Amino acid sequence: MTSESTATATGLLPEQRTAVVTGAGGPAGIGRVTARVLLEAGWAVALIDINAEGLAAVEAELREAGHSAVLSIPTNIADEASVAAAYEQIDANLPPVVGLVNLAGIACPVALHECDVAQFERVMAVNVTGSFLMIKAAAARMIPQGIGRIVNTSSITAFDGGGTFSKGVYATAKAAVIGMCHGAARELGPYGISTNVIAPGPIDTEIMGGKLSDERKASMSAGIPLGRVGQPVEIAATVAFLLSQDGGYVNGATLQVDGGKYMH
Ligand SMILES: NC(=O)c1ccc[n+]([C@@H]2O[C@H](COP(=O)([O-])OP(=O)(O)OC[C@H]3O[C@@H](n4cnc5c(N)ncnc54)[C@H](O)[C@@H]3O)[C@@H](O)[C@H]2O)c1
Repeated sequence: MTSESTATATGLLPEQRTAVVTGAGGPAGIGRVTARVLLEAGWAVALIDINAEGLAAVEAELREAGHSAVLSIPTNIADEASVAAAYEQIDANLPPVVGLVNLAGIACPVALHECDVAQFERVMAVNVTGSFLMIKAAAARMIPQGIGRIVNTSSITAFDGGGTFSKGVYATAKAAVIGMCHGAARELGPYGISTNVIAPGPIDTEIMGGKLSDERKASMSAGIPLGRVGQPVEIAATVAFLLSQDGGYVNGATLQVDGGKYMH
């Protein structure tokens, strides 16, 4: 925290606090790194993902690194009962929920006009309904505390319509996540809860159909002013700022972390 503390102006983050991080079970994902960065910043972390095996590996890795305030809970975020069961476990085992980082998502390389309804609805279910269910349950816990930090994850695909891998269906879902952020920022702000959204450009993870080869990274880097794809830690650091004490006046913002790939 800076010496000009924001704590008195904005409400103090409690010392014992939990951040719920969805999408934390990917072996090379943004969620895994975000969990580590938040643990290092003093948060207890609930790791949420549908990939139980990946989640267990991430929890083991974090415990090996000396972090004990961590609990992995296999969850389907698109299923209300699964989300309710996850929050029950969090309530019983970890400090109060003050942070929520909605990172779980699925990509979709299918064009809108070629997508069948089942696939369209699957993309909406994870990216949109899942974020909604996680926010709703988190807000019920944050409102009585009068403080909270929520981060959704969009994509610059919401602005540029996508490219070779992510296309119009994904763009639709990721644009909805921005609208959800604006609504939540307005509706939850009076309770001391901030809601923001991160819109990453291409990041070096496995979401685009597997590990990125050097060749693919080079071709993806064309058109990015910084000349490279981003690293998961660069998203994690942005999330950590939004969850920090001094990040508390940012509300309803979309933060692009994309090397300058898309400029409005
Ligand atoms: N990597 C990129 O280039 C990029 C760019 C823009 C936005 N994003 C977004 O960033 C977020 C994180 O992606 P990532 O790159 O770390 O990919 P990732 O595939 O490593 O992480 C996504 C995680 O979500 C989990 N998940 C999928 N469906 C789920 C469900 N129903 N319930 C719970 N968990 C579920 C997956 O198991 C996976 O671990 C996603 O929302 C993605 O859309 C990524």
